[in-house]
Amino acid sequence: MSLVSNGLVPSGVDDTPEYPETLTQADPVPAAELAVFDTIALSELTELSFPIWSDWWDVYVLRQGGTLSFIDRHSGDILSQESVPFLTRALDLFTLLHTGQGASPWGAIAGLISLSVPFFTVTGFIIWLRRRHPKPRGMVSLANADVVILVGSETGTTWGFAVHLAQQLRDAGKAVHLSGMNKTCHMREDATLLLLAATYGDGTPPSGAAQFLERLPGYQGGQHFAVLGFGDKAFPAYCAFAINCQNALTASGRTSLLPMGDINRRSAQAFTAWGHKLAVPLGLNSLVLDYTPPRPKTRQLELAEREDFTGYDGTASAILRFRAPKKRRLPGFNAGDLLGIVPPQDPVARLYSLASSKREGMVELCVASVKGGICSNYLLGLEPGQQIDAYVEHNPDFRPARRAPTIMIGAGTGIAPLQA
Ligand SMILES: Cc1cc2nc3c(=O)[nH]c(=O)nc-3n(C[C@H](O)[C@H](O)[C@H](O)COP(=O)(O)O)c2cc1C
Repeated sequence: MSLVSNGLVPSGVDDTPEYPETLTQADPVPAAELAVFDTIALSELTELSFPIWSDWWDVYVLRQGGTLSFIDRHSGDILSQESVPFLTRALDLFTLLHTGQGASPWGAIAGLISLSVPFFTVTGFIIWLRRRHPKPRGMVSLANADVVILVGSETGTTWGFAVHLAQQLRDAGKAVHLSGMNKTCHMREDATLLLLAATYGDGTPPSGAAQFLERLPGYQGGQHFAVLGFGDKAFPAYCAFAINCQNALTASGRTSLLPMGDINRRSAQAFTAWGHKLAVPLGLNSLVLDYTPPRPKTRQLELAEREDFTGYDGTASAILRFRAPKKRRLPGFNAGDLLGIVPPQDPVARLYSLASSKREGMVELCVASVKGGICSNYLLGLEPGQQIDAYVEHNPDFRPARRAPTIMIGAGTGIAPLQA
């Protein structure tokens, strides 16, 4: 349609056959008095062009789908018939598809489709806002940086640590550049590269760092580096992606300023300790990193029922089923997501795999007591009616395949996601 409107493709309008002319000159008869129009149902009519009143030789041009009829304005006789040019017919189809004009069910569908434009605009804007990361003031360009901090984060908490680190280094007189790990970096040869990277799964990078290892061979400069991994010891591949980065940077011929650091469960103390170690190779008297990540936004869930079991080695364990308290709704989740639980004794959330699907109308966890474990023993001590503070951590890469047949192997651990 736009090609035709802009004259890049002919519309076919100019290809209409030659107009026949009425043979006799007579007084025109009003259209309503011509019998030929009574024989045509409105639904068959595509287009009707009226003759110019003062031109006695002009005719009615009637279009019914692919047929053009030229009609004498005095007698109502069909003088000749032609087929509509192909391009005109094609344009009709495009117009119908785009506007739904003349086809109400399709018009309703086209209308709904057009509503998707504002929908995707607004939701896209919200996603962009959420993914935007804070940039502290006083950062410099890559080419001018003494220290380049790159962040690999999925849910954003590592950015909080990185921003604090950047601010402290800037206050200590360093020229700092801060950005995400997916960017290719051309740094000064003597610049120090600091990598702060979270892990998701078996060495899997967070989406904000998915291209880092692939792009690393294209990096220039940054001869000295340090890596700080963010992870959770509850996962078997603890800080595995950060370890891969440490190895890849070493293999690229760069020099590690200190052994790779790791932060378990966003520990503020471990971060402070790493800062003390980093100060030395950076030539700083001190680097005080004092940052506690903000507590995640939680909702209340109420324990509805519990089923207690004893493991083969005597470990207390239970299936706990939570519902939304009265007049509240359950948070949205899918099988494979995790439930972050903030126990009252510790502001740091623990993640549990969900053992229920959304359709069950409740949140189910399988919990086994861990020796000295704050959260597992807190959960196992709950009575029905008691409430917990929790939030859903989405885990989109851990979904069952939609269509492929699936074989599930329960090898003795991690029963919850199988159940979900
Ligand atoms: C779905 C999921 C999978 C995770 N997998 C691992 C893992 O395999 N190894 C690990 O050390 N930490 C793992 N973690 C913990 C995160 O790496 C850790 O919470 C990190 O601080 C998150 O940082 P971010 O908020 O910047 O993405 C996982 C967390 C989630 C939610």
